[in-house]
Amino acid sequence: MNDIFEKITSLAKRRGFVYPGSEIYGGLGGFYDFGPLGVELKFNIKQAWWRDVVQFRDDVVGLSAAIIMNPKVWEASGHVSGFSDSFLECTKCRKRFKIEELEQEKEKKFICASCGEIFEGKVRKFNLMFKTSIGSTEDSASVAYLRPETAGGIFVNFKNVLDTMRVKIPFGIAQIGKAFRNEINPKDFIFRTREFEQMELEYFVKPGEDEKYFEEWLERRLEWYRSIGLKNIRTYEQAKEERAHYSKRTVDIEYKFPFGWQEIEGIANRGDFDLKAHIKVSGIDLSYFDEEKKEKFIPYVIEPSAGVERIALALLCDVYHEEELDSGDKRIVLKLHPKLAPYKIAIFPLLANKEKLVELARRVFNKLKEEWFCAWDDRGNIGKRYRAQDEIGTPYCVTIDFDSLEKDDVTVRDRDTMKQERIKIKDLKDYFSKFL
Ligand code: GAP
Repeated sequence: MNDIFEKITSLAKRRGFVYPGSEIYGGLGGFYDFGPLGVELKFNIKQAWWRDVVQFRDDVVGLSAAIIMNPKVWEASGHVSGFSDSFLECTKCRKRFKIEELEQEKEKKFICASCGEIFEGKVRKFNLMFKTSIGSTEDSASVAYLRPETAGGIFVNFKNVLDTMRVKIPFGIAQIGKAFRNEINPKDFIFRTREFEQMELEYFVKPGEDEKYFEEWLERRLEWYRSIGLKNIRTYEQAKEERAHYSKRTVDIEYKFPFGWQEIEGIANRGDFDLKAHIKVSGIDLSYFDEEKKEKFIPYVIEPSAGVERIALALLCDVYHEEELDSGDKRIVLKLHPKLAPYKIAIFPLLANKEKLVELARRVFNKLKEEWFCAWDDRGNIGKRYRAQDEIGTPYCVTIDFDSLEKDDVTVRDRDTMKQERIKIKDLKDYFSKFL
């Protein structure tokens, strides 16, 4: 299984999905850069999420809050005092291990998995928030934090949205953005990093209706994963002692990675923890007044929270296939759902040095790219060009050959079936509209 993971991570680097962060300076642990294909994949994931959670609904609005907020936000939310991991540090090599990760037999005896020495250190706690300072002095008054979750920005804007938008309970506020955690042990490629993107919804409901909406959102989120073609998912109900300090109930959506079942999204019932905490610290009334029933209450919150990079990694693992062809050759193909594939169509002039072919191919390219993200490739033989597009998950390839000049048609090749058919150039947009 690790062999497969190795192949997937190497493909991600080799084909421009993910690069190690600051690579020319030796990298920086827990930080990655997303290359030309990675940025498209992430964009498509975020767009699919936004369409489902915001655009297709009349009860959810969007938000983009600042990453750095008044530190009181994180004092109120309990992150300054409670957002920490317990770790054990090897006295010899100084490598730190998260307590819950010391599961393997040899680690239970507390033998360092890195250098083989026996641990002597004490269990210590470590706050996961990145600290920074604002302004020219670095005293305690200037301390600020990079947000560890995007949710904080939503809670502090609850009243703004209520006062400026025509929303009524139940309604949600959605946000996609960067979050930062100084993870003790970033690992498994882009699975656990120190900088990542979250897609979060805070759905405000009347107390007592929280369980009903919890179930609704859990089902809707599972349905979304099915709609983007992700298989191998399951749910996991967190035990009380596993839950975050704010949670009444949490169900994780897990994906079966080559390194085991792991969380890609958490659905939490945060109750009224956050709004109450912000009322207490800010002194501002964040309750809701129901005009029809003439009653005032502090809403409960249902929170589906997903990580963009974890979903991207799950997808890469899920759609990676190695296939034996009739010719005896092998092909690597990413069977990504077309709406997530970085490029939708690749356009090839059969020969790069035949002016007429290139001219017609350019015309086809310009026409199709008005609608879809298209790749252009005029190098090497057509078989190699197909293989290269299969490897990055491009659903369709279009080849312009000498017949195209006579008959105004092209060869369209399907990534998954590898079947080819001739389509008239004038019909191409209609043809692809059916699939893309
Ligand atoms: N607001 C709730 C919250 O932040 P979480 O379970 O800590 O809950 C939600 O995070 C999601 O964010 C996770 O399911 C995961 O997809 C993503 N995530 C959390 N920590 C991450 C990390 N260090 N690297 C990558 N993604 C992470």
